[in-house]
Amino acid sequence: MTQQKATNIVWHAGHVTRADREKIHGHKGVLLWLTGLSASGKSTIAIRVEQILTERGHFAYVLDGDNVRHGLNSNLGFSPEDRTENIRRVGEVGRLFVDAGAVVLTAFISPYRADRDKVRARFDAGDFIEVYVNAPLEVCEQRDPKGLYKKAREGKIPEFTGISAPYEAPEKPEIVLDTAAEDAEACARRLVAILEERGVVPRA
Ligand code: ADX
Repeated sequence: MTQQKATNIVWHAGHVTRADREKIHGHKGVLLWLTGLSASGKSTIAIRVEQILTERGHFAYVLDGDNVRHGLNSNLGFSPEDRTENIRRVGEVGRLFVDAGAVVLTAFISPYRADRDKVRARFDAGDFIEVYVNAPLEVCEQRDPKGLYKKAREGKIPEFTGISAPYEAPEKPEIVLDTAAEDAEACARRLVAILEERGVVPRA
């Protein structure tokens, strides 16, 4: 964990527990951490899962890289240090949401294994589920929905993941989604089914 700067701070517990909140929501809190290259399908899958769960009346919430970088993390770029801080903050926000009893889906490239593992270490076993959204670089580059791979190849975006910056694939993710073989809808439904199997959300 990052060195804490403040001194003289004391944890103040509330009267309402996570269990109380989960009881009200009718499901458990959990974090699904989606990691993968840009254009691998993370956001598309995450927002579809959020929609399916919300339609069932559940408390689901997506934290998305491009969006969070517009606000909370607007002071961060794409250097290794900034990505590390990006992921640390998102992990902490995810923790708060899980404590609030939400099914949280994060959609960040999160290219460094050590950063993801540090986030995992902040959660109880079972509360952090790493989902490797696996699509080959060639496929992501072919999709290129934002035209960023093209720009990166032209040297217009420095430190672009997969082109001029590394992506470290998870070694033991709980779930692997192969988005070159399976479409986003099928991947989203598979994630929901896994949440049902794990007893996080009730079966529909
Ligand atoms: S992370 O590496 O720190 O996890 P994050 O998921 O927040 O990245 O943001 C990635 C998104 O930012 C990409 O989907 C893309 O739209 C955009 N982006 C802009 N510059 C870069 C870059 N140098 N490398 C990767 N993505 C970039």
